[in-house]
Amino acid sequence: MVDVLVTGGAGFTGSNFVRWALAAHPDWRITTLDKLTYAGRLENLAGVLDDPRHRFVQGDIADAPVAGRLVREAAIVVHFAAETHVDRSLQSAGTFIQTDVFGTFVLLDAARQAPGLERFIQISTDEVYGTVASGRSRETDELRPRNPYSASKAGADRLAYSYWATYGVPVTVIRASNNYGPYQFPEKVIPLFITNAIDEQPLPLYGDGMHVRDWLHVEDHCRAIDVVIAHGERGEVYNVGGGNEVANVDLTRRILELTGRPTSLIRPVTDRQGHDRRYAVDTTKIAALGWAPHVPFDAGLAATVAWYTTHEDWWRPIKEGDAAFRRYYQAQYGGRAPA
Ligand code: NAD
Ligand code: DAU
Repeated sequence: MVDVLVTGGAGFTGSNFVRWALAAHPDWRITTLDKLTYAGRLENLAGVLDDPRHRFVQGDIADAPVAGRLVREAAIVVHFAAETHVDRSLQSAGTFIQTDVFGTFVLLDAARQAPGLERFIQISTDEVYGTVASGRSRETDELRPRNPYSASKAGADRLAYSYWATYGVPVTVIRASNNYGPYQFPEKVIPLFITNAIDEQPLPLYGDGMHVRDWLHVEDHCRAIDVVIAHGERGEVYNVGGGNEVANVDLTRRILELTGRPTSLIRPVTDRQGHDRRYAVDTTKIAALGWAPHVPFDAGLAATVAWYTTHEDWWRPIKEGDAAFRRYYQAQYGGRAPA
């Protein structure tokens, strides 16, 4: 059996990866280490919590004794755990530094003393390149993160690389574009807009709505991680992108079409501070390993709308039952002026 440690496996991407990997690899035994912050939910692991090849451990990646023990038991570490929402990093960046930078350092330092470790996959992000005026970011491009979240992730990304270059920790870095799919916390634009549309509530579109993101179905991200574990070079970086560059206003219109709601629900509001205009990655390097995205954006978005429509029992307790989420929503959008 291959022992795999997945940090942040109760979050959106991590839980999709745990489910996908248990199905794809009958010889993998996965431990999920997750603190269960506001974004981590055991419900996301429905269907695998009782799997004898899966173990859930609630804990903080920055807790050296716990993280160290689990890293030393693993042959493969896939490190997703992070604070991930840009808007929250604008309100308060401390937890981003603590988890994304310091927590990553704790894991890496444990990995130095883990002789059985074959892979340490650092889940980074395309946001580390900063805004991309034209062309597509390549792995060798300069990192120019422009908000506290992406700067924290850039710190972790380069810290992970330094542990390869200095100590030979078997690190490979993956920089993916915007993921979408089931179990994404409804603070991110796609689940927020789908669920607001279902409830016929306004869709708060930042600024002029012409900011561009490259949408990647979470299953395509899972397959990319798997390909990198199998064939990626240690000490290297791989971009992953869906090849679906869409302006936010077009995304919003598609969501309204799919939910059968009117465009009058679009509510242009004051822009995000420091809002990156566009992300776009060149994926030539991972394509050479045999990876390409499979999920067409139209089909993936329709399936995602269908998932949220049939899983109100998953998101209503967050949006309606969770006082902390309601406070967040009020602070973020309550007094926000029209654009
Ligand atoms: P998410 O916010 O849905 O989940 C994050 C998970 O990490 C949660 O389960 C949370 O409980 C856990 N966590 C947070 N702090 C922790 C700590 N100190 N110790 C242990 N667990 C902790 O995030 P996501 O969107 O699934 O993103 C996962 C990773 O993928 C992140 O590293 C993110 O930067 C990266 N990423 C995400 C996207 C995307 O579009 N979602 C794109 C590229 C990269
Ligand atoms: O690019 C990868 C990154 O994608 C990941 O590293 C981050 O963890 C993930 O959160 C995501 O960051 P973004 O800031 O791009 O995602 P978000 O869903 O917050 O916003 C997507 C776009 O939608 C962005 O241009 C801002 C806009 N937006 C977002 C929200 C929440 C709105 O117009 N209105 C909103 O209410």
